[in-house]
Amino acid sequence: MSGQSLKKLVVYYSLEGNTKFIAEVIADKIGAELLELKPQTEINSRGFLKYFVGGRQSLFKQSPKLESLTKNPQDYDLLFIGTPVWAWNYAPPLRSFFSSVKLSGKKIALFCCCQGQKGKTFAEMRKALAGNEILGEKEFFNPLNNRNENKKTAEEWAKQIISLII
Ligand SMILES: Cc1cc2nc3c(=O)[nH]c(=O)nc-3n(C[C@H](O)[C@H](O)[C@H](O)COP(=O)(O)O)c2cc1C
Repeated sequence: MSGQSLKKLVVYYSLEGNTKFIAEVIADKIGAELLELKPQTEINSRGFLKYFVGGRQSLFKQSPKLESLTKNPQDYDLLFIGTPVWAWNYAPPLRSFFSSVKLSGKKIALFCCCQGQKGKTFAEMRKALAGNEILGEKEFFNPLNNRNENKKTAEEWAKQIISLII
């Protein structure tokens, strides 16, 4: 398949902008479309309470209702799926996504943003995405704190993923 005809989508959730930053860098580099997952009720990103509210959502494996998806992931050949790490796991809006969109036979690359403790994030994403081909995974440490270096790393990684399939 040529790079031009390959349909690429970056799906992500981001509370504080780090995952959004990486998602946009990847999409820009490889010419992919973007699909942001937005909970109907977002938690307050300011203050310490977010760790309690979000951490509890994650530990109890909750699936917050999402706003309607603006793109159909089934229409794409290659998906990058990104999440912040919440309580050593992927963030709950991703759980809502995995249960509402049953992906199979897709090529998928995983990325996460965290402060250094990703725990079982990728293992759990792989479980939720069984039946797809996972091409790679990459973690970023609060990339907004070091934009230039993380931009470069994300671009190189995205190119490497693309080179695996074309
Ligand atoms: C509710 C909550 C739980 C978190 N749990 C973890 C964690 O278990 N491990 C970790 O390294 N960082 C954890 N973090 C930090 C975020 O993963 C990190 O700041 C990430 O870059 C945020 O991405 P975002 O800006 O796209 O929301 C947590 C943050 C929140 C809000």
